[in-house]
Amino acid sequence: MSQAAGLFRHAVASGDPLQDRVMLWTRVTSDDPGPIDVTWTVARDRDLSDVVCEGTAIADPDRDHTVHVDVDGLEPATTYYYAFAAQGEQSPTVRTRTLPGPGADHLRFAMVSCASYNAGFFNAFGRIAEREDLDFLLHLGDYIYETPNMLPPGAPQPPEIGRPFDLIHQCLTLDDYRRRYAQYHGDPDIQAMHLMHPMIGTVDDHEFADGAWRDGSSWHNPEVDGPFADRKAAAFQARWEWLPCRPPDPSDMSRVYRTVPIGDLADLFIIDTRTRRDEPGGLPDRDDPARTQLGTEQREWLFGELERSKAHWRLLGNASVMGQTWSEHLPESVTNALKLLKLAGENGVEPDPDHWGGYPAERVALLDKLDEPPGKTVVLSGDVHVGLAIELHDHDAPGRDPVAVEFVTSSLTSMNIDDKMGWPRRDERSLEIERIAIETVPHWKWCELDSNGYVVIDMTRDRVLAEWWFVDTVLAPSTHEECGGRWMVEHGRPFAVPAP
Ligand SMILES: [Fe+2]
Repeated sequence: MSQAAGLFRHAVASGDPLQDRVMLWTRVTSDDPGPIDVTWTVARDRDLSDVVCEGTAIADPDRDHTVHVDVDGLEPATTYYYAFAAQGEQSPTVRTRTLPGPGADHLRFAMVSCASYNAGFFNAFGRIAEREDLDFLLHLGDYIYETPNMLPPGAPQPPEIGRPFDLIHQCLTLDDYRRRYAQYHGDPDIQAMHLMHPMIGTVDDHEFADGAWRDGSSWHNPEVDGPFADRKAAAFQARWEWLPCRPPDPSDMSRVYRTVPIGDLADLFIIDTRTRRDEPGGLPDRDDPARTQLGTEQREWLFGELERSKAHWRLLGNASVMGQTWSEHLPESVTNALKLLKLAGENGVEPDPDHWGGYPAERVALLDKLDEPPGKTVVLSGDVHVGLAIELHDHDAPGRDPVAVEFVTSSLTSMNIDDKMGWPRRDERSLEIERIAIETVPHWKWCELDSNGYVVIDMTRDRVLAEWWFVDTVLAPSTHEECGGRWMVEHGRPFAVPAP
């Protein structure tokens, strides 16, 4: 279905569905450097004969000839088909879907993070595209990687699989970020995913720069790379241009955080733990109550939304792991593995400063909010490239039910422990590390440190079920996948459930 050439070579996509609306997206590639008229059609059928609405939009050169149409007046929980046309050429006709509305009692979606193009084939996106029963795809960040094709000497290098970045240096300018998104949108599996499901997304650091924080990043040298504010603005602009997303506040294009209501079944709070935070490991000191991962505005908004939420479930979608991911009681071999995965800090007995553990006062304040009432929140996280199920506890009170449960998706392609250690997937050494970590790290219920894939979340009023789906390889195109873990939250507690 994807097109390697033609006006619509970057295919089409949809995103940010609500009960009554969805964003449609495309990009027009033409010899015409000026604005280009584009028509669009939304229908109830794949032949586009039962038309719901249609109109005209502009592919503007100031927006890199990308097109966004916010289509409203739609019915909840309904599948629609849409297509674009320009200069006598028509895009593929593809599917999207609105969110469930009032009275909804079921929701099912896939969640992903960390899609490093040069680390692997996007087989997991291909498998998600084959699923017809999902309401949307939740992208928890690292949609792109801004990194150079080869990492600095000493770092694990990407495998030689014929998928280099076409821009071999790291993204710094608006043109660089646009070109990186364009390469991603040319991938057949990412196209197939977008042709099937609307996307709801947040950001991690690699949409900007490795280790990004409010005023810099660990990979940004202002003397060589210029002001970080310019780079951050360019990265935001390319993201809004190239993804099918609706800015929550058009007067503040740096705002990603928002509430996505799903009837009274769930409120999905999308938060940004990267572009407003204090520097990881920097000032103010880790235990300073003023230290923030959210930034003042986002924290006030989030805490207010949590107090106001009347939904049956609360979902928190963010890049950063919230649960504890280290322990001072681990053998050195396991501590070293967790450090390699950036689950433990430099000394091995403290949190990695990049995660919620690096912002402890704000983490406790947030857990206090999630505790009102307990057992109603599921935190959905990415970033660390491994699958995890963790209980979140506010205070160390033995026997007390968890405040919330956290499910962490593995990476779509980015390197896991087997890649970093140079041993085969599901090697006995990985299994041993997992066994010891589950026995020792507080509140860890399950982990899988080797595989790439995605998670399917299926929720009703009674329970939230998470299924980790793993592909057999990312080093070559493959259609094989298997379910590697199933965990359910019921009455506030997580427990393993056997494969169906
Ligand atoms: Fe990542």
